[in-house]
Amino acid sequence: MDEVRIHGGNRLSGKIPISGAKNAALPLMAASLLTGDSLVLNNVPLLADIESMRTLLAGLGTTVSGHAGGAEPSLTLTSARIADTEAPYDIVRKMRASILVLGPLLARYGVARVSLPGGCAIGNRPVDLHLKGLREMGASVDLTGGYVEARARRGGRLHGAKIAFPLVSVGATENVMMAAALADGESVLINAAREPEIIDLANCLIAMGATIEGHGTDTIRIQGRESLHGASHSVVPDRIEVGTYAIAACVTRGDLELIGARTDLLPGVFEILADTGATIIETERGVRVKGPDGRPSGVDVMTEPHPGFPTDLQAQMMAYMTGAAGASMITETIFENRFMHVPELSRMGANITVHGSSALVRGVAKLTGAPVMATDLRASVSLVIAGLVAKGETTVSRIYHLDRGYERLVGKLHDCGAVIERVSDGEVARDQVA
Ligand code: EPZ
Repeated sequence: MDEVRIHGGNRLSGKIPISGAKNAALPLMAASLLTGDSLVLNNVPLLADIESMRTLLAGLGTTVSGHAGGAEPSLTLTSARIADTEAPYDIVRKMRASILVLGPLLARYGVARVSLPGGCAIGNRPVDLHLKGLREMGASVDLTGGYVEARARRGGRLHGAKIAFPLVSVGATENVMMAAALADGESVLINAAREPEIIDLANCLIAMGATIEGHGTDTIRIQGRESLHGASHSVVPDRIEVGTYAIAACVTRGDLELIGARTDLLPGVFEILADTGATIIETERGVRVKGPDGRPSGVDVMTEPHPGFPTDLQAQMMAYMTGAAGASMITETIFENRFMHVPELSRMGANITVHGSSALVRGVAKLTGAPVMATDLRASVSLVIAGLVAKGETTVSRIYHLDRGYERLVGKLHDCGAVIERVSDGEVARDQVA
């Protein structure tokens, strides 16, 4: 089992290239099912989840060529002949975003059988809102043997509908928006998710011939089309990667320029980092983040759907606040079990008390390096962040979680002065290539 070994104490300095967003690339890849033409996706990150989606689509009959990551990353996806409309459990259980093939398959082929993703470390992760939307568009949806079996009734084509989501769901918004792009008539999504990844997906669908308005707001209107055509689209930069490395700059009191970063993708986050004492400077190439000179000020954070503070940055912010000159209340409102980094941070000397969905973090002068275990993607990186500043050596195990969402994390941090290496069976190894 690979692990990451970090010797804390170095300030990070230099520049980090930001990759394309995992949470945009995954739905964009699923959107290729909506047309028989080729969809070209540029700036696709090299991540385990991307490879899982590639495998899933290939299993359905999509041809996928090109390469993710590296120089000029570009994938060409062509779903001219879909041989199978089933997404099997052994792939879906590894990557929940596989559920995003459900809407496109149903809309284009009138039938789909997709394994229920099941829960994951951070929560139960139901998909009832995805199914609600598709049912209201005329699909019959049954849950049989752990699978979603969906069929478009009326002659195999979905129809437009007005769908009001009782709570904001990124995935349900994406699945239903993709299905609506080929439905008969207009669909209106009410209480839709507003994340930048939704905007990116809508922009790609529009390039493919879809008619969509209101993306980025809580009400999205889609005029269904008989068919969509191919397009070329560049994946939006990964705002969670930006936030992660911005926090790494802060925690080490360093100075990083994040190349390709855009402040508009993280409304409020840079302001919160400035409140802790950081200096944020927009540059021609991205965003420069200078950490506070001394211990950061403690700030309170509550995760909320976009444009609120992203839940995917909650663990990283907590790692930062463990060293604050004061207390910080961190409240998680999106997922029911997203504090699994707390016991691991506590092993490093953090002083954190959890009450329900809130964690009270009392800043300590110094963390101490320790062997810790990754439990989910963002918890993993919060342990790396803590290791960057802890006294002595930290080893993070089960780092396959990291490989799901961070391209070349060890290399990017090492290039900026971190004493960090990946170890595989006792030998120093190169960054995982998904
Ligand atoms: C997406 O997950 C992201 N994943 C998550 O990122 C992110 O944390 C999440 O959105 C919130 O921003 C991808 O985009 C691949 P939701 P998703 O549907 O779509 C509940 C990461 O670390 N819900 O917005 O699954 C759900 O349980 C990952 O990169 C229902 O109740 O999130 C949760 O409490 C983790 N029924 C809340 O809504 C549903 O049908 C928000 O979930 C769907 C969701």
